[in-house]
Amino acid sequence: MSQKLETIRQSVIKCTKCDLCKTRTNAVPGKGNFDSDVIFVGEAPGRNEDHNGEPFIGVAGQKLSAALKLAGISRDQVYITNIVKCRPPNNRVPTVVERATCREYLKHEISIIKPKIICILGNTAFNSLLGGSEITKFRGKLAQMDGQLYFLTVHPAATIYNQKLVGVLNADIAKMFEIITELKNDNKVPIDIDYST
Ligand code: URA
Ligand code: SF4
Repeated sequence: MSQKLETIRQSVIKCTKCDLCKTRTNAVPGKGNFDSDVIFVGEAPGRNEDHNGEPFIGVAGQKLSAALKLAGISRDQVYITNIVKCRPPNNRVPTVVERATCREYLKHEISIIKPKIICILGNTAFNSLLGGSEITKFRGKLAQMDGQLYFLTVHPAATIYNQKLVGVLNADIAKMFEIITELKNDNKVPIDIDYST
């Protein structure tokens, strides 16, 4: 782990900048390979994550791991984090204030790792990072904003009760790693949406 990421981790673990610190068990810093080509960004920790202090280790996490495995990627090759690092009570969607308050941690994670692509998992990350909504309409697409590439897909939790979305998530993740391979080979990839300001 890079020293800079470790510093962020320590700050997150003791952070009291928003009210979510009052109800959490553990803050959940991002986790994974600091040299990753991709950062996966979910919404917020759930119950299992709150108990263990690690992102995406519950059922949604298993769905994400399965999609990675099918693409030939292991979890320790990538970096996984969330828009907010503490669990909202009853898994409610984090508020605009909570998201904005927690934003600096994600900003730092991105600036240290410098991923080729940020993989947006679901509506909350889509809305927070690109101002988008209705991820199911935009999923599978490659977007860009101010020089950073983003790949859009559904939240792994959405696949738990919707079997159709399992195949969608798996295919999207595989497609994203194909795009990453193209980028590494210095090949041009078509950008579907430009959100640049
Ligand atoms: N859902 C998320 O958005 N993040 C997690 O870490 C777990 C479930
Ligand atoms: Fe701090 Fe983010 Fe947790 Fe709020 S959600 S207390 S800003 S780490």
